[in-house]
Amino acid sequence: MRPTKSMHGQWSSNWAFILAATGAAVGLGNIWKFPYITGEHGGGAFVIVYLLCIAVIGIPIMMAEVMLGRRGRQNPVASLQTIAAEENKSGLWRLLGWSGVLAGFLILSYYSVIAGQAMAYIPRTFGGMFNGVTADGAHSLYQSLTADPERLLAWHTVFMVGTMVLVARGVKSGLERSVQFLMPALFLILLLLVAYASNTGEHFTRAIHFLFNPDFSKLTGKSVLVAMGHAFFSLSLGMGAIMIYGSYLPKDTSILKVSVAISIADTLVALLAGLAIFPLVFANGLEIGVGPGLIFETLPIAFGHMDGGAFFGGMFFLLLVLAAWSSAISLIEPAVTWVVENKGVSRVYASVTLGVITWLLGVLTIFSFNIGSEWKLFDKTFFDLLGYVTANIMLPLGGLFIAIFSGWVMHQHATREELGIKYNFMYQLWRFLVRWVTPVAVIIVFLNAVGLIDNIKDWLHY
Ligand code: PFF
Repeated sequence: MRPTKSMHGQWSSNWAFILAATGAAVGLGNIWKFPYITGEHGGGAFVIVYLLCIAVIGIPIMMAEVMLGRRGRQNPVASLQTIAAEENKSGLWRLLGWSGVLAGFLILSYYSVIAGQAMAYIPRTFGGMFNGVTADGAHSLYQSLTADPERLLAWHTVFMVGTMVLVARGVKSGLERSVQFLMPALFLILLLLVAYASNTGEHFTRAIHFLFNPDFSKLTGKSVLVAMGHAFFSLSLGMGAIMIYGSYLPKDTSILKVSVAISIADTLVALLAGLAIFPLVFANGLEIGVGPGLIFETLPIAFGHMDGGAFFGGMFFLLLVLAAWSSAISLIEPAVTWVVENKGVSRVYASVTLGVITWLLGVLTIFSFNIGSEWKLFDKTFFDLLGYVTANIMLPLGGLFIAIFSGWVMHQHATREELGIKYNFMYQLWRFLVRWVTPVAVIIVFLNAVGLIDNIKDWLHY
């Protein structure tokens, strides 16, 4: 039997759910990765493809995840198992829930280390450490942090404790209360930073052109695939985070409306982050597509040479930490609900135990920046390997199977009933997208992520 309510509680309003799920979606991916990959892939045309992917892949999968969560009302493993049983299908579908629980836990272990680095940059920037800094100086300041396992460990610990305290407090007084404060703060800081960047005059105009003026000659097949993959990661799809948040959703909420709202908010934050970062990078004659060093090495140079740079730089890193924080709680929530439901322990106990295990795993990521940078498997450090396996393999596979499950395994009457979409053509459109468009697109993303497309291309050359 399916429970009609989650034992963990329920959001007090649709608005609370939208805030929480937007908090889960908005993170390091929006504020750092989106501007950087947009820079690498030529701007406007890439942005258009990205927006298209959000619309035809992101929104339908998000709707599917919210729907599955609300129908199952349990942790992702049990929800999928219950729904599959109801449809007379194999109980093995619970493995899909398992892969989500595991992916969230693995991602959090390194997400926390990176968020910890951003935390370390808050006092550094507010304290004026980057005033007048040179490129070499910014580089060595970043190195001095990553080369020091104890400092990384201290920040990682602070971030993990902060995350688990919120998770332990539960749906209403933990998740819901925290995002009510975090999300408005995040939007305010972001707007402040965009206002600050708009003072750069022509550089701000150049940034707008860069983001919104498509030059399709710059678009390659690879950029399309990168855009698709990022739409997926940015909306936190494919690993049960949105599913578990959906399990706390009141019965009468319109899944279509909330999914659209969350996707728009997530996209807006990414675009605003571009508008906050690009003008500063342009104004200082710096490179846009420098990769992982962009926010920790390049941006501080910009902050170090601008009026009020210490304050606004500090605000930027604060923003990043807040965004990462509200994503972090969603990463571990599926695992916490599983432990509570299956081991009969309290939420506090489950949070502490899982927090400690995640923290321990994070130590390996910390070592991969310094004393363990030579420990490699398949030529990748532990951190690189974990990032690769989770983002490039587990999330796309999770999304693919979620689309197959809701489009092919579940009966039409079940999805129609749970989604409760008023207009038949909208429902049919959703079904077409999850049955055909999403699986095909995700398979392409997946093949690309594991490098198969490149291999096939190479092979065809010979
Ligand atoms: N969406 C987050 C970001 O853009 O940083 C990353 C993420 C969070 C992925 C939660 C997956 C997840 F479940």
